[in-house]
Amino acid sequence: MIDLRSDTVTRPTEAMRRAMAEAPVGDDVFGEDPMVNALEEYVAGLLGKEAAIYCPSGTMTNQIGLFVNTNRGEEVLLHEGAHVYVYEAGAPALLSSVQVRTLTGEGGVISSDALRAAVRPENVHFPRSRLLCLENTHNTAGGKVYPLEDFAAVAGEARALGLKVHLDGARLFNAAVAAGVPAREWCAHADTVSVCSSKGLGAPVGSLLAGGEEDIHEARRARKAFGGGMRQAGVIAAASLHAFEHHVERLAEDHERAKRLAAGLQSAGYDVEPPETNIMLVGVGDAEGFLAALAREGVLATPAKAGYVRLCTHLDVGDWEIEATIEAASRIHAETSSL
Ligand SMILES: Cc1ncc(COP(=O)(O)O)c(C=O)c1O
Repeated sequence: MIDLRSDTVTRPTEAMRRAMAEAPVGDDVFGEDPMVNALEEYVAGLLGKEAAIYCPSGTMTNQIGLFVNTNRGEEVLLHEGAHVYVYEAGAPALLSSVQVRTLTGEGGVISSDALRAAVRPENVHFPRSRLLCLENTHNTAGGKVYPLEDFAAVAGEARALGLKVHLDGARLFNAAVAAGVPAREWCAHADTVSVCSSKGLGAPVGSLLAGGEEDIHEARRARKAFGGGMRQAGVIAAASLHAFEHHVERLAEDHERAKRLAAGLQSAGYDVEPPETNIMLVGVGDAEGFLAALAREGVLATPAKAGYVRLCTHLDVGDWEIEATIEAASRIHAETSSL
C-alpha cells in the first residue's frame, strides 16, 4: 500500500531506532530524564523561546497552550478550519472551560480587520476575548504557509487589543523550509508555540510546547493534570531529537514530490490546488468513490472539503510511489470519464 493519508504514518528510520535504543533515561516527572531535558532545551533554542515542554501529542500541546493563556469563561478566536477547533474533540470546552469563536479567511489567514471586528468590548454581557490561535502550515486549507507579514500583522493587532497569541505549528518546519524563513521568525510573534516531531519530521510520537519560563512552568502542572506526565520518556524523546536534528532540511524533498504529484494529477485531468508544502487538495467530484477506487489500486488518501480529497507526502514516500499514484489516478480518471 502507498499511504498518502497523512505524514503521521511514517515509521522510525534505522538511525532513529538506534538513537532510541541508546537513549539515557530517567524519571521525567521528576525532571530527571536527560534526553527529554536535552530535547526541550534544543527545541526552545530552535524556536527562540525561553523554555519548552515535551508532551505525547500535538493535541495536548495545543490544549495546554490554551489552558495557560486563558481563564474560565474567556473566548479564544481562531479560524473556522483550525485543528484546535475541528479535530480536538471539543477540548477547549472540556479542559479549559473556554468558548471558541471562529473567523473566516482565505488559506487559514485571519485579517487584522476581521480580528478587530470580533474582539469584544469590555461589557458585563460579553465573554472576554483572551487568545488568538493561529495555525502554520494550515492543514485544512491544504498545507498553506501563513505568510510571515500577515502573521506579524494579525498577531501585532491581537497584542494591541490585549490578547495573547498561540501558534499551532504542528507543521511549522514545513512552512519554514517552503518559505526559506527560520521557524523562530513566526514564533517571535506568539506567546506559546506547539510543534510536532511526529508529522513530517518522522518521529513515532511527541510534540513540544515552547514559550516563556512562566508559561512553561504552568504548562508542567497542566501536563500532569491532563495525564501527560511521562516517566522514562527519553526513549521516545531520542526519536524526536533525532527528527529535529536530521529531518528538517529534507522536508524540501516532500514538497518537491508534492509538486510533482500535483502536476501529474493535473495532467491526468484533476482539479488540483497547487501545493505549497506536503499537503494537497485534489478536486475529484465523488470523493468517496474516488477514494475507494484509489484504494483498490493500492493507494490510500483521505476525504477533505466537499468534493476534494487530501494527499500528503512524507518521509516514507519516494519517487516510485509518486509515479505509481499518478498512474493509478490516471487510470481511474480515464475509466470514470469514459462511463
Ligand atoms: C495542524 C495540526 N495541529 C495539531 C495536530 C494534532 O496532533 P496530534 O495528532 O499529535 O494530536 C494535528 C494532527 O494532525 C494537526 O494537523
